[in-house]
Formats: sequence, structure tokens, C-alpha cells
Amino acid sequence: MRTITVDPNSPDRRLLQPAAGALLAGSLVAFPTETVYGLGALAFDPVAAGRIFEAKGRPADDPLIVHVRPHWDLGGIFADTNATIRDLARLHWPGPLTIVAPKHHSVPDVVTAGRSTVAVRAPSHPVAVMLLDMVGVPLAAPSANRFAYVSPTTAAHVAADLGDLIDVLVDAGPTSIGIESTIVLVDGERLSVLRPGSIQLDGVDTNLSAPASQAPGRRDVHYSPNAPTRALEAGGRLPSDAGSGTLVGFDDSEPAPPGWGFVSLGSRDDLTAVARRLYGMLREIDRNEPERIVVEFTGRGGLGEAVDDRIRRAAGGQIVY
Ligand code: TXA
Ligand code: MG
Repeated sequence: MRTITVDPNSPDRRLLQPAAGALLAGSLVAFPTETVYGLGALAFDPVAAGRIFEAKGRPADDPLIVHVRPHWDLGGIFADTNATIRDLARLHWPGPLTIVAPKHHSVPDVVTAGRSTVAVRAPSHPVAVMLLDMVGVPLAAPSANRFAYVSPTTAAHVAADLGDLIDVLVDAGPTSIGIESTIVLVDGERLSVLRPGSIQLDGVDTNLSAPASQAPGRRDVHYSPNAPTRALEAGGRLPSDAGSGTLVGFDDSEPAPPGWGFVSLGSRDDLTAVARRLYGMLREIDRNEPERIVVEFTGRGGLGEAVDDRIRRAAGGQIVY
């Protein structure tokens, strides 16, 4: 693997040339987006896109997000780029919103895992933007982690998970949002959120119980550390007989019982910082192989809902305290 280090705000085009070249040659390139690092390949090259599944150990039935520039013609990606899709894109692209809608027949089946819908987003990170501009065609990119592990928010996370399996890693430092994009399903004029994120859509319900057929990535165990992980209700207190492990909470959390380590994600009033820290913190704690990890919910709405969704996933849905 070759690592290319670039400035996150104004990347040098010449430095990115080998990354663009590798993508155009059908290779795998990990690059930063504003949410998490992505593992990119040409979306319209089924062999290249197939390599993503191999590298991640991702099941073939879990579709990929197609990354584009906002001004590109979506005619060959969505079957019908209707007014609802256009409005969402105009309001939120470039940015962390992924739009799922019926796919154009030319999108390779490997990308959509054989589904009739495709997920598309236009990232805003200057490095992702420049790479897309240089390559000039859509890139399929899931989060650049080993399947079902915690998403990567730094290049070091990507290297730890996939170092031997990718061709180029573009390092532009930590990502700014820290959790994955909001995913919205467009069904005619009807919208439903399949995965909450930092973009909140007013008046649109979050359908966390969407059938697996609509939300294939919403498996019970996802974004999970290796150590057994559980969630704690917001403001809750661990019972004294909870064994030992590491509690991840906030500055105002109840004290952990004796025998427990405690790490704070910061103030619940600064959810932007909490979201940015969450995955790095989970990875760091996991490296020390604690007996168990317990993560307290934020208990907040808005971005808190998205963070609590990731905590619930990390805990495999197991809220025991
Ligand atoms: O912020 C993000 O979205 C990051 C960056 C790299 O763009 N990407 C990301 O990709 O989180 P990934 O593959 O880790 O998560 C994408 C989710 C998966 O749960 C997948 O199942 C779901 O999107 N997805 C993809 N295509 C879909 C479709 N047609 N219908 C429903 N869900 C879909
Ligand atoms: Mg992922």
C-alpha cells in the first residue's frame, strides 16, 4: 500500500495523481470524506467494485454507495431523477446525505447487490471532491473498515484494518463529522430515513425498523468493537455487580463502579465533538482489549439521535443497563 499525505483543505492535485490513476486502472483507493474514510473503486467497473467486497470481507448482499459530484448528470444512475431527488440534492449536496431511489439499468448489479435501488451521495470533503473531478466518473465507496467493525475516521484506522488489501491510502487527517451520512429512501414523493446522520430532514420519519430488504446495512451487529459492547441509558448508572470494563460516557455521567475505567466523549451539549470522537475512542479502547465496553447514550435529539443509533449498533442492540 502506498500512502499519500495531502492537505485536507487545499489538496495538491499533483500529489493526488497516483490515487486518481490507480482508481482509473481499477484499483482500490481509500480516501477521506467529511463523514468517514471511504474505500473507493470505479462504480461502473464491476470487477473493480467487486474488489471492495473482497477487501472488506463484506457480504455480497450489502450494497455500496455511489459517490458523485453534485452537477453530474444523474440520468445514468437513477432510473428517474424526479423533483424530490433534485430538491434533496439541491438542498444538501455536496454533503453527508445519501439518496436511495430506483436505479438505472446501467448501474452494475455488484454495486447495488442486485437491488432495484441505488444509493448515491455527493461528498463535500475537498479531497473527495478533487479525486472525483480528476477521475471524472462515479466511485463506489463504503466506509473503509473491515466488515462490521467500527468505521474509520483517520488514515491510521484504515491502515490498521485494510493496509495490506488496498493500493493507495490518501491521508488528509481526521474527518470532520465522524459518523456516516444520513441515508434517505425516496419512494415517489415519500421520504424515509434509513440511517440517521448529521443532516436532519424536517418532518421525515426515521424508519429504523425498515425491513432488511430496504435497509440491508442495518444488521444487528454493525460498527462493533471486538470487546463485548453494551449500551447504557442516558444518565444511567452501572450497577456495582457489572463486572469490569471500560465505560464510555460524558462529562456529566454518573461515576463508574470500582474496577471500571471511564472515558468521556465530552459534553452532551457539544454533540458535534461527540460524533467526531466516538469511533476513534471506541477503536482506542478496543485496542486495550477490555473485558467489556459500555457506552452511554447521549439521550439527545438531532445529531444525538444519529450518535445514539451508532451506539445502539455498536452494542448489537443490547441495552442491558
Ligand atoms: O458517510 C458515508 O455514507 C460513508 C462515506 C464513505 O461516504 N459511506 C458509508 O458506506 O457509510 P457504507 O457502505 O459503510 O454504508 C452504506 C449503507 C450500508 O448500510 C448499505 O447497506 C446501505 O448504505 N445501502 C447502500 N445501497 C442501498 C440501497 N440501495 N438501499 C438501501 N440501503 C443501501
Ligand atoms: Mg460501513
